[in-house]
Amino acid sequence: MTATPRGARPHKVQLGRSWAGAVAGRALSARGVRNGSVAGGRNAVLSVQSVAGGVKADAAKAEGVTAQNGVKYGVRLVGTGSAVPKHVLTNSDLEKLVETNDEWITTRTGITQRHVMGPDESITQLGADAANKALEMAGVDASEIDLIILCTSTPDDLFGSACTIQAAIGAKNAAAFDLTAACSGFVMGLVNATHMMRGGNFRNVLVIGADALSRYVDWRDRSTCILFGDGCGAMVLSAVEGNCNMLGFDIRSDGVKNENLVASFFTNGLEEGATTNKATSESAASTMGSYQNICMTGSEIFKFAVRAVPQIVGSALKSAGLEVEHIDHLVLHQANQRIIDSASDRLGVPKERVVSNIAKYGNTSAASIPLALDEAVRSGAVKEGDVVAMAGFGAGLTWGSAICTWGKAASSE
Ligand code: ACO
Repeated sequence: MTATPRGARPHKVQLGRSWAGAVAGRALSARGVRNGSVAGGRNAVLSVQSVAGGVKADAAKAEGVTAQNGVKYGVRLVGTGSAVPKHVLTNSDLEKLVETNDEWITTRTGITQRHVMGPDESITQLGADAANKALEMAGVDASEIDLIILCTSTPDDLFGSACTIQAAIGAKNAAAFDLTAACSGFVMGLVNATHMMRGGNFRNVLVIGADALSRYVDWRDRSTCILFGDGCGAMVLSAVEGNCNMLGFDIRSDGVKNENLVASFFTNGLEEGATTNKATSESAASTMGSYQNICMTGSEIFKFAVRAVPQIVGSALKSAGLEVEHIDHLVLHQANQRIIDSASDRLGVPKERVVSNIAKYGNTSAASIPLALDEAVRSGAVKEGDVVAMAGFGAGLTWGSAICTWGKAASSE
């Protein structure tokens, strides 16, 4: 988790062609600009005409997105925060639940403990705590946030928890929605946020990764219950003039391999002789079914991860026009220390540039990347201008990587 001495390697950060292509057409409309800055909130509407014009304009420019008045806009990563439940469950606690032992868990996963939500805790509360810390670091008031993306597979409510977090922090001017992509959720959220901001409609965005997989774990299944913990990480992104600090990305899915990691809804089905299901009968109470425990083929996920992560980081780097040696900090989804070690070895990233906090938290799903990044930022390891490569993978199957420069200063060209 240490920062690389600056100047030891070429550090010229440029926007790659693919990223420029990916954002082409999302030029800020003139209506979205007030006094040389991005107009606040969703009033800054992007017209169809401005998109068409933007495509042409950006095709002629290899870098950045240019507003019609010639002002460039980019995304800055300006604040992080995190929160975890109070209760700590150690490996020796798990020895009392299932046939396992600290030595097996530590050597096979790198995990020594995890935090698990109690009945008085919630995704909303963790999300609000993490968001408030991120806002404080960013120096942004909650009222200035105009979008909240909550990346989670385990909201407090089936309809999502982004809006309850919005209410809890008093972000009264924000639109808020949930995004589900399992352990890849935070990376997917960052990519979404970046595109929406570069579209000119959103000035300050909160991307939150939060999960409580302990709610869906079968605590009798030693192959899964030892892995997961609960937690939350948040990041504030701000749109400003100048180069974009989100340098490149790649996101992928493969639903054909979905069965390797599921927590499916199980329908009770029709009673014998019935012609309609219970929802349409008089006894329609909530007896239709429920979500099942997490069911995972661990070895398949392991093999998938060690192959997919180096590939996706490589393609995200390519889209950023960067090489592996430009990475100051590699922040991978914290699923298993052996996966982190294998993927970083295959990539050729030295250990001192690999961020890991899995020992303390286990696999916190969509929270793991922002939680690890927040600790690295607050410890001083991640410094202004450092290049951070993030990569998530998990259920779906989904995987993705985003390459960015940390902090308020623009990436150098
Ligand atoms: N304690 C003791 N022994 C155990 C435990 C345990 N907790 N779990 C399994 N074992 C035993 C098995 O029964 C097996 O015994 P056997 O050889 O007698 O049959 C032996 O240990 C080896 O089991 P494996 O499953 O082969 O162990 P492996 O080294 O593959 O580790 C693990 C299992 C940790 C689950 C690993 O496969 C892994 O980390 N996979 C990836 C999981 C992951 O990253 N998931 C991402 C989810 S993210 C999301 O989207 C939610």
